[in-house]
Amino acid sequence: MRARSGSAGAPPAAPAKQTILVLGGIGFLGPHVVDAALARGHTVTLLNRGKTHPGLYPNVETLRGDRDGHLEALANRKWDAVVDPSGYVPRLVKASAELLAPRIKHYVFISTISVYAKQDVRNPDESLPVATIADPSDEDSKAHYGALKALCEQAASAALPGRVANLRPGLIIGPGDPTGRFSHWPTRLAQGGEVLAPGDGSTPVQYIDGRDLGAWIVKLIEDGTVGTMNALGPEHRVTMKQVLDACNAALGGKAQLTWVDADFLDKQGARGWTELPMWLDNKADYAGFGTIQNTRAVKAGLVFRPIADTAVDTLAWLSTLPEDQRAKARSSGIKPDKEAKVLAAWRART
Ligand SMILES: NC(=O)c1ccc[n+]([C@@H]2O[C@H](COP(=O)([O-])OP(=O)(O)OC[C@H]3O[C@@H](n4cnc5c(N)ncnc54)[C@H](OP(=O)(O)O)[C@@H]3O)[C@@H](O)[C@H]2O)c1
Repeated sequence: MRARSGSAGAPPAAPAKQTILVLGGIGFLGPHVVDAALARGHTVTLLNRGKTHPGLYPNVETLRGDRDGHLEALANRKWDAVVDPSGYVPRLVKASAELLAPRIKHYVFISTISVYAKQDVRNPDESLPVATIADPSDEDSKAHYGALKALCEQAASAALPGRVANLRPGLIIGPGDPTGRFSHWPTRLAQGGEVLAPGDGSTPVQYIDGRDLGAWIVKLIEDGTVGTMNALGPEHRVTMKQVLDACNAALGGKAQLTWVDADFLDKQGARGWTELPMWLDNKADYAGFGTIQNTRAVKAGLVFRPIADTAVDTLAWLSTLPEDQRAKARSSGIKPDKEAKVLAAWRART
């Protein structure tokens, strides 16, 4: 990893205004990048098909195109940097990276910690081996998400040697999250009463607020930072108990958490990560869960807001959505009747 910097002792110069192309830009993470870039005075261009949240940025130049074979709108254009949050297939990342290589300085590819082949190593850094795929032409990005993302990283780096930042976020949370995963916790805690909490509370957990990630991506562009970096926080290790206690306190302290043993949850069919988001039973194949090192990213300026702020802001964002979208954005997380059933069984255990 390298970063351009000013001369020692001199006051930091205002960052040069950048022209930034975002391939996509109007899903979940993209808007956080766009908002951060605009707030810093940079000029943003989007390329997308116009299907997702059309009209979200009426004042931002938007080029119509499809990464799969229709990049004509990028012809004869130049940008300082490209952010690629919508690459899932190496063939398409290769196409955009090669096309843009002569006309940009810096390519920021949004990868994932799912690139890692295994999750059983504690405290891994970016040198942990990545997943591979038997047939690299297999483009099923659901079945081979991590392995294909790893190949996308390699495709970008091959097209722009020494000019790529490959960022590997963990669970991205906060306002705008369409997956409804983290949203379960602020929603449920704000309702109050007895809340099913997974494990014994000591499980380390990691996440990144999309707004912190977006701001950091813009900083990387301003600093010209390249290299492969895990992108998740917080800076210091936290446990599931610390996270839920902080969120509960910030949301009025109305919930009483009942911590239910991981094996008991397993027997009850209550699933970590999906029904009990952000958490997994960190043993055996998942012994490294929640312990991925982020030292490189922190050195490169990644900072984290308190989880309590994310919880409050997520709830506030949910309240702005029309009912159907709100229901979808809350659709993850254990259903109330199942939660009550598991809690009753836990109380009744011998
Ligand atoms: N969520 C998590 O917890 C998590 C964790 C780790 C890593 N990640 C990574 O974070 C990124 C999240 O990205 P996001 O979806 O939020 O990004 P985004 O840029 O906000 O949304 C995706 C954009 O891509 C556009 N798009 C999709 N297919 C396209 C195509 N064929 N041609 C042109 N444009 C296309 C969509 O618009 P149109 O539909 O209008 O084209 C949309 O604007 C992903 O790379 C994901 O792997 C996520």
